Amino acid sequence: MWPLRRDKFPPGPCGGLKGWSFRALQESPIEMFSKLARDYGDIVGIRVANFRNIFVNHPDLIEEVLVTHARKYFKGRILRANRHVFGEGLLTSEGDFWLRQRRLAQPAFHRARVASYAAIMVEYTQRLLENWRDGEECDVHQRMMQLTLQIVAKTLFDADVARDTQDVGKSLQLLLELGANFRRTLFVPHWVPIPANLRIKREIAFIEGILYRIISERRASGRDTGDLLSMLLHAQDDDGSRMTDKQLRDETITLFLAGHETTASTLSWTWWLLGQNPRVEAKLHAELDAVLGGRPPSFDDLARLPYTGNVVTESLRLCPAAWGLARIAVEDHEIAGYPVRKGMGVAMAQWVVHRDPRWYSKPEEFLPERWEGDFQKTLPRFAYFPFGGGPRQCIGNSFAQMEAALILATIAQKFRIRLAPGHPVVPLASITLRPRHGVRVTLESRHRSSAEIRRPTEQAMTAD
Ligand code: HEM
Repeated sequence: MWPLRRDKFPPGPCGGLKGWSFRALQESPIEMFSKLARDYGDIVGIRVANFRNIFVNHPDLIEEVLVTHARKYFKGRILRANRHVFGEGLLTSEGDFWLRQRRLAQPAFHRARVASYAAIMVEYTQRLLENWRDGEECDVHQRMMQLTLQIVAKTLFDADVARDTQDVGKSLQLLLELGANFRRTLFVPHWVPIPANLRIKREIAFIEGILYRIISERRASGRDTGDLLSMLLHAQDDDGSRMTDKQLRDETITLFLAGHETTASTLSWTWWLLGQNPRVEAKLHAELDAVLGGRPPSFDDLARLPYTGNVVTESLRLCPAAWGLARIAVEDHEIAGYPVRKGMGVAMAQWVVHRDPRWYSKPEEFLPERWEGDFQKTLPRFAYFPFGGGPRQCIGNSFAQMEAALILATIAQKFRIRLAPGHPVVPLASITLRPRHGVRVTLESRHRSSAEIRRPTEQAMTAD
């Protein structure tokens, strides 16, 4: 299909990324990658300073990197440069060490185990709703961030972080923001005492304080609660050694970060999409009312709520919280006939592939119905990959999908989320894709009389 082009670099912007285009990479990477794909096609060569990178947009090429030749690649530069945050946690470690940790953590994410978290997810959402008032205005993104952070803490570490949630959430958010500054992260090592690096150090110290407290409380209690923290604490190497506090710290900070912000953003984008699509919202409400009749959802209900599931699936297509992935070649390889030398970067963007008209008709429209029947089976495997793929596929995949559907079902039964007119919803593509200024909404009880219900408002997704 792709002829051999030895010693060639794929077509791309002349002279590499500099000037405005480097700024574009920093400030609006999704627009930049979309434009590169439009201008150059399935494979694009990009030079960023001294780094050579290949950007691939065809599902088959993505599969080669993530699955078929996964061993030839490590995680990309930005994630590697953030190792002082994540340490040797699952997201950033490599090789045998990663494999061992993945095997240790996997049981906490097995189907039956994940199903057992459903009740906690619903209970925490109900607790949140107890404080919601009809007509109240708020930033729904902040609410989702707090909720998913509490859920991940409770399910995986049996820790109640309610008293620290706001501060932990803010710190984690700051670390993500600061860590996603491509220019600084790539060119200024984290130990150079510039203000941003000092800030990162302070935030890490703050979160570590809380994580070490959780770890030491659990060590002291000797309890085996069967949760992920217990599994990690009790896991033994062949030589009988156990994980150090530092290793536990790396895994917990990784799971706190990877396990709450992505799901929160997915929900925020879902509220934003529903707010603009009253037809979809009405269909969602109809399904929830017919199947649940006002009672809280359970794990077993999810199979009876296909439209709710499709709303989440479609939201992850249009606004994938993990909007792009990056790798570095650790061995020479070849993609589409172009040589990929050791040290070269390879980038893939869910945002771009998920909106490709070759795979999706009306790609810019929010149409949960498209997922009905066998549609997914007709797609190439990597035309839809919100959770990545291959050995490094998201370990929290089922956890996140179940959590998003349960939270959506619990809230949408009781409240309509009306978008506040005029509030700009701006996508911030940092390591994850989230609304830069949040999503301002009015919470409207679904049980007020129909005469009081106002018409839906519109908020545009705008460039900053
Ligand atoms: C909608 C929500 C989520 C999305 C879109 C998402 C997306 C992703 C993606 C794309 C990757 C692969 C990164 C790569 O290949 O470079 C990943 C990895 C990972 N995710 Fe998620 N994720 C979500 C929720 C979660 C949750 C809830 C957890 C844990 C509770 C979690 C934990 C992780 C971990 C630990 C990894 C690294 C896995 C490894 O390399 O072994 N994620 N996630």
